[in-house]
Amino acid sequence: MGPRRFLITGGSQGIGAAVVAMARQAGHQVVFTGRHDDTIEQVAGATGAFGLRADSAIDDENEKTVEICQTQMGGIDVLVNNAASWYDAAIGELDVDAMRRLFDSNVFGMVDLTNRVVPLLKMQAGGDIVNIASTSGAKGRKLGTAYAASKWAVRGISQCWQAELRPHSIRVISICPSEVQTRWGGRVGRNNPNKLYATDIAQTIMAALNMPQRAMWPELSVFATNPWKED
Ligand SMILES: NC(=O)c1ccc[n+]([C@@H]2O[C@H](COP(=O)([O-])OP(=O)(O)OC[C@H]3O[C@@H](n4cnc5c(N)ncnc54)[C@H](OP(=O)(O)O)[C@@H]3O)[C@@H](O)[C@H]2O)c1
Repeated sequence: MGPRRFLITGGSQGIGAAVVAMARQAGHQVVFTGRHDDTIEQVAGATGAFGLRADSAIDDENEKTVEICQTQMGGIDVLVNNAASWYDAAIGELDVDAMRRLFDSNVFGMVDLTNRVVPLLKMQAGGDIVNIASTSGAKGRKLGTAYAASKWAVRGISQCWQAELRPHSIRVISICPSEVQTRWGGRVGRNNPNKLYATDIAQTIMAALNMPQRAMWPELSVFATNPWKED
């Protein structure tokens, strides 16, 4: 893949930050978002990517994000919809407003941003959209009503976009990581060395993007080989 223009949501930490770093190392231009200036500045300083504070749950901020991609890079070739949040609750005790807020970022924010980017990709007759779903979007679990539902939605939406966008030579790739060692949900310290790292997911994304444009991997699950190993 030659040099391309990446927009990565939630690039200030975890998987998103690993994708920012890997894309920069490969010589691509990158704009990324986050919601906290300190982590945005750290990633921007370390990688040379352009970071901006923008909440993907807010439509006006998505509009601003796309405008900044145009001024900074002259457009977008690769959109990585990575930003998402987490809410666990037992049915019977679930706060439906908290679930609505989660859907605002994990689902509606992703749709709003992509809705703004796709006309640009169609005009240039090509581009890639990578949606970060989860293995939680393929198998339900206790307390997972809100999060798992949002990730099932991401997988379903990805299939709809594949059906719509393949005739425009736009690839839509859905990535389903199993548990990855990040600060996800504020739970620092899931440091079992045999579980997945953010860089494993970033490598998966870059491998999918590096496939010849005529070939598309619609969905990829990524599991740790032996997360039970104690060492
Ligand atoms: N870690 C796992 O085990 C795992 C497994 C499967 C799937 N995933 C998925 O992988 C993606 C990344 O997760 P992660 O583990 O890397 O999480 P993380 O370490 O918590 O990082 C999340 C990133 O997204 C940003 N973010 C969150 N909500 C945002 C919003 N509304 N607008 C803009 N930025 C926002 C955060 O920035 P701020 O901190 O500034 O808000 C941060 O940069 C998510 O889609 C998640 O569902 C994770």
